[in-house]
Amino acid sequence: SSRLPWRGKNVLITAGPTFEPIDPVRFIGNHSSGKMGFALAHEAAQRGAAVTLVTGPTSQETSHPGIQCLRVNTAQQMLDTALEHLEAADIVIGAAAVSDYRPATVADEKIKKSEDHLSLDLVKNPDIIHSLSKRRKPGQFFLGFALETEKEAEHARAKLSRKGLDAIVLNSLRDKGAGFGGDTNKISFIDKNSELTPFALKEKSEVARDILDEIDRRL
Ligand code: PMT
Repeated sequence: SSRLPWRGKNVLITAGPTFEPIDPVRFIGNHSSGKMGFALAHEAAQRGAAVTLVTGPTSQETSHPGIQCLRVNTAQQMLDTALEHLEAADIVIGAAAVSDYRPATVADEKIKKSEDHLSLDLVKNPDIIHSLSKRRKPGQFFLGFALETEKEAEHARAKLSRKGLDAIVLNSLRDKGAGFGGDTNKISFIDKNSELTPFALKEKSEVARDILDEIDRRL
């Protein structure tokens, strides 16, 4: 119906940070609150979609019946869980801030303070949205995010093509009120034809609406 235009669609969304353990009490993480991913999940569910939301550690909650919320900690767990739901998805959105590296080994016991210098050996994590897009089936739409601090549009376009996406949402830490943590964001939507649509600073709930409208236009 016109009130539920996404009824029958399956939407797979990653959200939040990942926590990569160092030892039983410490981890490598980042400032993602999960708000952007949860807002997208809520907006898609409001349009009638069946949403699978795979989220890293966050205090965000949802009770929307259209959202299946799956909580994970690490990038590897996020990938494994997303892969289980990829086949059924019509639209895949990578809003998570995934740790690009993880400690090569996780210490069994709490690491003791001793030397003045301590080095952590890190290994690369899988790229989740790229791993998913590599398994793309005809008709699936892949949207990534790009969180940039310089040469924003150039870096975002490079990520779009490197990760095999249909479009990418650029947000810049140079813009006040954009990116991590807060309730607002300022984005540009860039599609694979390199067309860039800028939006004003607004609530993440409204940003989610703009993003889904842009996807809709390209389905
Ligand atoms: O959670 P909030 O506090 O609301 O903040 C929202 C946000 C800033 C986290 C969000 O809007 C955002 O920009 N998410 C992507 C953050 C990011 O890590 O961007 P990136 O430029 O490093 O990654 C590019 C794309 O690849 C993203 O779609 C990311 O999910 C994906 N990626 C990155 C690395 C990796 N190992 N696997 C991935 O899937």
